[in-house]
Amino acid sequence: MQKGLVCSVCGYIHLTEDVPNDCPSCNSCSKIFKLFDEKDEALYTKDDVAKTGESEKKHLPVIKVTDIENGYKNISVSVGELEHPMIKEHLIQKIYIYIDKQLVSITALTPDIKPETSIKIKTNGKEISVVAHCNIHGDWLTTQNI
Ligand SMILES: [Fe+2]
Repeated sequence: MQKGLVCSVCGYIHLTEDVPNDCPSCNSCSKIFKLFDEKDEALYTKDDVAKTGESEKKHLPVIKVTDIENGYKNISVSVGELEHPMIKEHLIQKIYIYIDKQLVSITALTPDIKPETSIKIKTNGKEISVVAHCNIHGDWLTTQNI
């Protein structure tokens, strides 16, 4: 389990320990950020597989980065090695993409949409992180080098 800060208004996960002045997702002030310290607000990673079992295969983001024209990179994300349900009662609601732990993209999803997203970005960043938010099973983080 990884530590982080969560916006108590919109659920945005902040990946560094510095508290931002405003939430980059909903613009609420820094006072609403709280640390993950309660059981039901975990940020899971692949290291938590032993505790989560099969669930991990439906929630951990899978990231693919390819170089494209003019210095852009294409970043494609799908959620889960196994397909996650996308129904009203249980779905991946948001996919957050970060470069060097700074938020660059948020995708909001509704039922019947595949839990995937992609962006094209010019960046010299070294590390990409993706958080997938499931309305039932919480937040799942994958990080890899670019
Ligand atoms: Fe789930």
